[in-house]
Amino acid sequence: MKCNQCGGKAVVQMRQHKLALCAKDFLQWLPDQVERFIKKYKMFTHSDRVLAAVSGGKDSLSLWDILWRLGYSVDGLYIGLGIDGGIGYSDESRRLTEKFANERGLRLVVVSVPDVYGEAIPDMAHRTRRGKTKPCAVCGLTKRHIMNRIACEGGYDVLVTGHNLDDEAAALFGNTLNWATGHLVRQWPVLEARPPALARKAKPLCRIYEREMAAYAMLRGIEYIYDECPYAEGSKSIYYKELLNRMEADRPGAKLSFYVSFLQAKENGLFAPHADPNAESLHACTTCGQPTSAPGECAFCRMTLKVK
Ligand code: AMP
Ligand code: FES
Ligand code: ZN
Repeated sequence: MKCNQCGGKAVVQMRQHKLALCAKDFLQWLPDQVERFIKKYKMFTHSDRVLAAVSGGKDSLSLWDILWRLGYSVDGLYIGLGIDGGIGYSDESRRLTEKFANERGLRLVVVSVPDVYGEAIPDMAHRTRRGKTKPCAVCGLTKRHIMNRIACEGGYDVLVTGHNLDDEAAALFGNTLNWATGHLVRQWPVLEARPPALARKAKPLCRIYEREMAAYAMLRGIEYIYDECPYAEGSKSIYYKELLNRMEADRPGAKLSFYVSFLQAKENGLFAPHADPNAESLHACTTCGQPTSAPGECAFCRMTLKVK
C-alpha cells in the first residue's frame, strides 16, 4: 500500500476517506483536518486562551498535542477522580498526563476531587441516590462542574474536550433512539458561553475517527492510559459504538455520514432552538455561583452537601 501523497510506504489506511498515508504525511494531515474543523465551526482563534480537559487517554492527550503543534495557546486541566478499580486508574492517568505536560513544558492545572471535596467519586456516588449502581452520573456532573469552574476562574475563552467522531456518533445514535430533542438541539461542535458563567465549549475532534486518533497517538509516541474507566464496562455508549462499528465495517464512512448529515440537517433548520425545553435563561447557584437551570442551589452543591 502506497502513501497517496508521497508514494512512500503507507502506514494508515482510511477507507472512509479513500486515503492511505505514510507516518509523516498522516502526522501533518490530521492536525490540518482538526484546524479545518476549528475554523469551519468557528470554535476559537489563535488569539483565544484555550483550556483542554485531559483525562490521560489517547484522544485528549493527542488533542492537546495537536493544538500545541498548531500554535494555539493551550493549557491542560486534569481532574483526579479517585478511581482505582484494581488498576490504579486515576493515579496512572494523572502520572501520564503530568509526564506529557512536563515533556512539552505545558501548563497543567490539576484538581483532585478527594482533596478538594473530601471524597473520591465512587464513595460520593455510593452515598447519593444518583450513583447507587454506577458512579458515572455523579462523575459526569462533577467533571462538568469542575471544568466549567476552572475555565471561568482562569479566564479561558474556551474549554475543549477530546470527544471524537465515535463518541459523537454514539451520542447522536442514543439521542435519536430516544428522540431526546433537548439533547439533539444542543449537540453541536461548539456551544456558546451563556450568562452567568457558563464557559464556551468545543470539540475539535468531533469529525475524527477514534481509530485515527489511536494511530496519531501511537505515531507521535504519546504514552496514554490504555484502560477504559473500570466503570465504563457495559455502558450504553459502548454498546452503541459496537453497533455503529458493525455498520462501518460493511459500509466504510457510515459513521461519518450519520454525524455529518445530522450537522447539515441542523444547519438547514432541523431542531431549531425553540424545541429546546432548557433554552430558558440560567441562574447562578446560591452556594457556588455556577450556572443552574432552576433558581437555588446547583445539582453539584446539593450532591456535595449531602456528602458532608
Ligand atoms: P469521557 O466522558 O470519559 O468519554 O471523556 C470525554 C472527554 O472529557 C475527554 O476526552 C476529556 O477531554 C474529558 N475528560 C474526561 N475525564 C477527564 C478527567 N479526569 N480530567 C479532565 N478531563 C477529562
Ligand atoms: Fe467517571 Fe468512569 S465513572 S470516568
Ligand atoms: Zn453550586
